[in-house]
Amino acid sequence: MNVLLIGSGGREHAIAWKLRQSKDLGQLYTAPGNPGTARCGKNIPIDVNDTQALVDFARQRDIGLVVIGPEDPLAGGIVDAFEAAGIKAFGPNQAAAQLEADKAFAKQIMRANSVPTAESRTFDTFEDAKAYIASRDEAVVIKAVGLAKGKGVFVCNDPSDGILAAEKIMCDRIFGEAGAQILVEDKLLGQEASILAFVDGRSIYVMEPSQDHKPVGDGDTGANTGGMGAYCPAPIVTDKLMDHIIKEILVPTVDGMNRNGTPYKGVLYAGLMMTQGGPRVLEYNVRFGDPETQPILIRLQGDLLEILLAVCDGRLDEVDLSWDEKAAVCVVMASGGYPDAYEKGKVISGIDKAEAIEGVTVFHAGTSEKEGRLVTSGGRVLGVTGVGATITDAKAKAYEGVEKISFEGATYRRDIADKAL
Ligand code: AMP
Ligand code: GLY
Repeated sequence: MNVLLIGSGGREHAIAWKLRQSKDLGQLYTAPGNPGTARCGKNIPIDVNDTQALVDFARQRDIGLVVIGPEDPLAGGIVDAFEAAGIKAFGPNQAAAQLEADKAFAKQIMRANSVPTAESRTFDTFEDAKAYIASRDEAVVIKAVGLAKGKGVFVCNDPSDGILAAEKIMCDRIFGEAGAQILVEDKLLGQEASILAFVDGRSIYVMEPSQDHKPVGDGDTGANTGGMGAYCPAPIVTDKLMDHIIKEILVPTVDGMNRNGTPYKGVLYAGLMMTQGGPRVLEYNVRFGDPETQPILIRLQGDLLEILLAVCDGRLDEVDLSWDEKAAVCVVMASGGYPDAYEKGKVISGIDKAEAIEGVTVFHAGTSEKEGRLVTSGGRVLGVTGVGATITDAKAKAYEGVEKISFEGATYRRDIADKAL
């Protein structure tokens, strides 16, 4: 079967790498892809949001399944467009993608179905938001309601900073229309965990738990990023806790989406805070997480293409998934300056040496090919993933790999996975 994968990050390279191992895979096309996905199939220069061109391409190339990586096209209704054209697409339709694209919608679903989350209020004018924030004397979290590339959340220990954040989002519109409304939320304390599950509208298959590292600096300091590294499994999520998460969070969410008339299919990603009062939802994502997908898929045993098709066909209960016992740790190497401004076009060397180490796999994110050389082209450049018997071993492998790779200005966190040790 020919597959079209949409996206160009580390997540997509990991998906392409895993799909390549599927026994029924024919041609794999990635639009637009990166030099990593080019090693697993053929890259096609079509933008992820150019729905019509993607549908036309899929028709011409006899594509049996389309896999959508990033949230933007999902929120834009790309799955609806493929289904209207009679082509199977893995991911939620536009109505269900609101779970990520509209945080006010997500809160409504959580409230209506008693899914534990932070208390919050939604505002559509700055004046009302300001008056409310000013009336509070504890920390607040301000969130743009729409999509903001993971940067739309401000955790403010002082309410006066909360007012400034609300002003930037609502008046200065630093995230454009995504900031037409905001949520003002209570701050939760605890460790975070990413729970990803395959959902076919009815059945839920939970993947192994992982943990992301959002802030750019060691010890969780500095600005939030798309994610500077992740590991899997995350021991903080014990089997008992996972049962609780399935029962109290995933099942009511999936049932609630059905009751709401917006059935969910694809990967449901619950970003959780493990508070003293139990796990609470910080956010939903409607897709594989990045970088979490890199350490997760490297441990997945079983045929990814078969699983994705089963999700599309509503027969997830028929597939068998299992996991490599080993642990995986992914360290993101980023461009100097990220998540603020950074330079591109720096020559990357040493990937082959890193990959020569047993247990090390390098996934490309922000790389491109220029005059026959591999150069940086994004904030997050590479995900170096190490696999080992324990998290300690996997971490050592990942950093052994990182040390072999160089490009000017390369930065990375030194403490990925330390919370698990
Ligand atoms: P989100 O994009 O909603 O996951 O938020 C990005 C990051 O902001 C999360 O990974 C958390 O670190 C933090 N965050 C979001 N909501 C809260 C909250 N209610 N309390 C504390 N931290 C939060
Ligand atoms: N790593 C967080 C995300 O994919 O949104």
